[in-house]
Amino acid sequence: MNVFPELLIRLLAKAERVAVLTGAGVSRESGLQTFREAQTGLWAQFKPEELATPEAFAKDPQLVWDWYAWRREAVKAARPNPGHIALAAMERKIPKFTLATQNVDGLHRLAGSENVLELHGSIMRVRCSECGLRAEFWEEGGGVPRCESCGGLLRPDVVWFGEPLPADELQQARLAAREAQVFISAGTSGVVYPAAGLPFSAKSVGATVVEINAEPTPFTPSADFSFQGKSGEILPALFNAVWG
Ligand code: OAD
Repeated sequence: MNVFPELLIRLLAKAERVAVLTGAGVSRESGLQTFREAQTGLWAQFKPEELATPEAFAKDPQLVWDWYAWRREAVKAARPNPGHIALAAMERKIPKFTLATQNVDGLHRLAGSENVLELHGSIMRVRCSECGLRAEFWEEGGGVPRCESCGGLLRPDVVWFGEPLPADELQQARLAAREAQVFISAGTSGVVYPAAGLPFSAKSVGATVVEINAEPTPFTPSADFSFQGKSGEILPALFNAVWG
């Protein structure tokens, strides 16, 4: 059943510039937890906001390393879901398609997306907390690994609360949002800035903004089209409605 308004289908079918922002909800159908869901098991007593900070790492690097090692194992076992795959397919239909993600799991690229801006870094890379050297491979020995170059502690190459986003990626994402004819925000609670500002920015310069999320967000009242449900179902259905 096609539940999408004809106007949206027509806009997407002729759009030349589309920008997308994704968050943890897009990886939910791949089995990964979102940030603001209650955590389970071993880590239930910690809030991500208390572990994903430079202060937490300075205070207890082992605790923070172990939390990321646990999350990395989940990411390694995860596969792209139909939502990721629909976005990769959309990229091949639209001349200028930019996908900015807050996710650090790399699943968009695995699904075949090419123009991906990782606004919050990647959990599959590390960088030295002292000299900044980045690496994709490191010695695992249980403890927090050290930098081959300077001996400093290695940390995940992700953006923590209180840290700036990678300037180049953020600038490209902002530009894409301002140029987009259609902007799609999917699977994000829209509470963490600056990423959460992108749909507002697109809207302010005239883009049609579509939101796909399991629940309403602070952006919902401003969305031109809002679909509540699973992005792993809605994104492929939208793709099929336009190009199927
Ligand atoms: P959140 O956990 O804040 O929000 C995920 C959103 O996805 C929620 O609004 C859910 O309702 C929704 N959701 C859950 N399952 C869904 C599904 N199957 N389909 C569609 N939507 C679904 O995650 P983010 O918005 O990504 O930052 O969080 C933003 C940032 O805050 C993260 O990148 C991370 C986090 O702390 C850093 O680590 C810097």
